[in-house]
Amino acid sequence: MKIEFTGIAAPRRGAIAVGVSRGGRLSASAQDIDKRTKGAIRRAIKASRFNGKKDQFEQILVPDGIAANRVILYGLGDPKELDNATYEAIGGRLIGLANQSGNAALAIAVDAETNGLPTVAEAAAAIAFGARLGNYRFDRYRTTEKKESKPSVKVLTVMSGDANRARRIFLPQNRVADGVVMTRDLVSEPANVIYPDTFARKMRELTKLGVKVEVFDKAKLKRLRMNALLGVAQGSAHAPRVVVMRWNGAPRSNSKPIAFVGKGVTFDSGGISIKPSSGMEEMKWDMGGAGTVAGLMCALAGRKAKVNVIGAVGLVENMPSATAQRPGDVVKALSGKTIEVINTDAEGRLVLADVLWYVQNRFKPAAMIDLATLTGAMIVALGHNYAGLFSNNDELSERLANAGEVTGERVWRMPLHESYEPDIKSQIADIKNVGAGRSAGSITAALFLQHFVNDVPWAHLDIAGMAWCYKATPTVPKGGSGYGVRLLDRLVADHYEAGSQRRK
Ligand code: BES
Ligand code: MN
Ligand code: ZN
Repeated sequence: MKIEFTGIAAPRRGAIAVGVSRGGRLSASAQDIDKRTKGAIRRAIKASRFNGKKDQFEQILVPDGIAANRVILYGLGDPKELDNATYEAIGGRLIGLANQSGNAALAIAVDAETNGLPTVAEAAAAIAFGARLGNYRFDRYRTTEKKESKPSVKVLTVMSGDANRARRIFLPQNRVADGVVMTRDLVSEPANVIYPDTFARKMRELTKLGVKVEVFDKAKLKRLRMNALLGVAQGSAHAPRVVVMRWNGAPRSNSKPIAFVGKGVTFDSGGISIKPSSGMEEMKWDMGGAGTVAGLMCALAGRKAKVNVIGAVGLVENMPSATAQRPGDVVKALSGKTIEVINTDAEGRLVLADVLWYVQNRFKPAAMIDLATLTGAMIVALGHNYAGLFSNNDELSERLANAGEVTGERVWRMPLHESYEPDIKSQIADIKNVGAGRSAGSITAALFLQHFVNDVPWAHLDIAGMAWCYKATPTVPKGGSGYGVRLLDRLVADHYEAGSQRRK
């Protein structure tokens, strides 16, 4: 889909969308069309329940007097409550409606509704951003879908009184959307297509954007002594990889980087502690943390963020086989700590243990954030509305929580208290990889990770409930959600980029 920004013009062929605010108050563009159609909009409002509330939409077909064959009214609600998120949702919904209409062109008119924020340019950019995110679909394996059921829109025109500024605001946002799309694609791909080697190959493509990409193969991981990670991988025919990506965008090349680390279990069968077969296919997206780190690097490099960033992902497939790790095995992690592997299905923490240790020691980051579809218990606790946040640092936690509210990719802080520590004490090794029974499963997992983190400000995001979208929203279709890219792009923009303490 092509996206363009223009001034407000007379309705052309295709679909045109215009805003109506609460109480049926027509925007300037709606008034214009109402006049050209001899009152079709006001008649439609009278004849329907649509009266300009937020989340309301109404369509008028082939009205006389204009070239457009479809007018879509979008509800703005109370102009005083308008924010970017509302405009993004409007963009997402409008593209969804237009894609079902058969129209190849959709024009959206954005009129200044308030003198406050967002400005008309910000609103137009947010609508375009929401439309691009909502327009996403993972359809590369559909071979029999008929043309008439495919999305129809080829060109989206966002019309506003400030097209140049809207275009400028949208430019970096469009690169962030590239990152979201990359994450969604990686997460939605099946495990016979995305496994450690193919995931790593996709990361190499980021060199086009100026990202430095190093891929560690199994021999290198052995030399490094990443035994905790290697133990998870040893039952699989697919060899593990660790990929380290670097984006050096800071004006001072020696300024400390911010580091992101992702769990990349390309398929989690549970290993010898095998999972039940029902729902096991979902474990293709157990690389969601790594997928988010990849998409984030794409976004930051794409928009040339003025910051030094490390992105590192631990890529393994967790399989049962004659060579697989056994429950009860003891491994010596890269850090030197010994781990008793009680349950081979608690594998993500084993992978992260080595990558976290490696990243913090090699790069001495200013902050380190890991993302992982780590525990089913996280979904029990927070469902699909918030990711769990565990951190050793209040300031970093607050920054993440704020970025979450602004982007709608929310996080909720969970306890990381030493009183849970006895749960992961081992009889024969330094620690064991699972806690006591089913209680506090996400917390004991986070505490386990903390064993491999020194005093760097660190946050762990358990995204088990967020990486996959089961219920579409206007900007997030079903499937890989891309959760975390926008959140962390925002965190970086607000707090870690040179000279930018961006407005909320
Ligand atoms: N990848 C799973 C966690 C998961 C479950 C993510 C459901 C997304 C949806 C993880 O590796 C796992 O299996 N965790 C176990 C831990 C247990 C063995 C201590 C779990 O949550 O049951
Ligand atoms: Mn598992
Ligand atoms: Zn897992």
